Amino acid sequence: MRLVRLFILCSLAVLLFAGSAFAQVHTSLEIRGDVNKPRSWTVDDVKKQFAGEIQTVTKTGRDKKESTLTGIPLISLLRAADLKLEETPKHYDYSFFVIVQANDGYRGYFTIAELTLDVKDSPTLLVWEENGKPLADVEQPFRLFTRGTSRSMHGIMHITLVDGNKLAARLEQRRPVRAAVEGNKQAALSEQGKSDGAFAQDDEYLKSLIERFRFYNMSHGIFAPVYPALAKQLVEDYGKTKGIAVDLGGADGSLAFALAKISELTVYNVDINPGATRICNVLTDRHQLTGRVLAIEGDATNLPLRDNFADLVVSRNSMIFWPDMALGVREAYRILKPGGVAFMGVGSPRTLDKETLQKLSDRAKENGRKMAPIPKDLPKQLSVFGIKQVRIIEGPDGSWWVEMRKPANAK
Ligand SMILES: C[S@@+](CC[C@H](N)C(=O)[O-])C[C@H]1O[C@@H](n2cnc3c(N)ncnc32)[C@H](O)[C@@H]1O
Repeated sequence: MRLVRLFILCSLAVLLFAGSAFAQVHTSLEIRGDVNKPRSWTVDDVKKQFAGEIQTVTKTGRDKKESTLTGIPLISLLRAADLKLEETPKHYDYSFFVIVQANDGYRGYFTIAELTLDVKDSPTLLVWEENGKPLADVEQPFRLFTRGTSRSMHGIMHITLVDGNKLAARLEQRRPVRAAVEGNKQAALSEQGKSDGAFAQDDEYLKSLIERFRFYNMSHGIFAPVYPALAKQLVEDYGKTKGIAVDLGGADGSLAFALAKISELTVYNVDINPGATRICNVLTDRHQLTGRVLAIEGDATNLPLRDNFADLVVSRNSMIFWPDMALGVREAYRILKPGGVAFMGVGSPRTLDKETLQKLSDRAKENGRKMAPIPKDLPKQLSVFGIKQVRIIEGPDGSWWVEMRKPANAK
């Protein structure tokens, strides 16, 4: 019960009206879930009720063109819905989730803490107008805009539904299964999938997502043993078993799940690819880690997370794709709490069993792949920014890892 009580959910939904699946006109947004005042809102309703809170922001698109967006802080609407927060909330602002779902099924999870970082200059806006004109049909009636990010949540357009209550209920139903799975987790999970109507639907959705994010086949194939081994090493080496971890370029969440399973960490799985975020959301539910693993679409070099946020930042096989590796590492440092540690790199952890290590190396040889070069200059580049506690750890198989600590007295 305690977990369920903590895991209070609220949802936003768009009512769909008339026409075929593709000709649907979305005219209002519904808030439901764990709120005292559920209701739906049209753009006109929002404009009238929140006239004093309307904001205009300027964003630069990928084509470098500027446009202005008009909206209100998402948190204003949630406050009007009167969230059912706990009576004696310990960190309620991290445990109350708002789930925003676009009508293509893409979900974004927010904690109240993220939405209220700075109430006056709220980071996440619910937008209905661009350059003084209503949004394009495919974005109506509302879309999100998150400040200070290059892409982040822009993908959540014409916001549709999540049934928060159902999700909470699902968690409740799963509890006995969780107890039963200790012996054979996979079998129990797939049995549960068969008996749960919602999961049957998810199977089709998951298949379509895998088609679009093929890396899933690697993370669930040859790389599968790497994640539990890396998670174990992280816990052994750094002892961060509570608080917040962030995996940068975490793809479908394999490392995030492994970490969440052996610790009490809440793990944010950040990836630039919306396909990865979507798969991670589906898998999170299947691993019964709803609320413990949170998938966020974001760029590692411009993170949609506040300063001093995470106890642990991890990243595997992603840095080499970042447009500016040093910038990404600085972002990791920015979001680390004082006393926090980051472990980011390429290859395998030292805890990986020899057999898998050999398989990975044979496979790389077959494919003519070489390990990415070690970024030897990185500590020097970072020291210019006052980041001093950085060292590179090299493995015998060509793996390399950047270990970075934020001093406990850092500001
Ligand atoms: C090879 S996969 C590795 C995934 C996972 N970390 C693992 O160890 O299996 C690289 C991932 O990094 C993500 N990625 C690439 N550039 C990124 C960026 N700038 N910010 C965040 N993620 C990024 C990709 O979308 C992809 O999911």
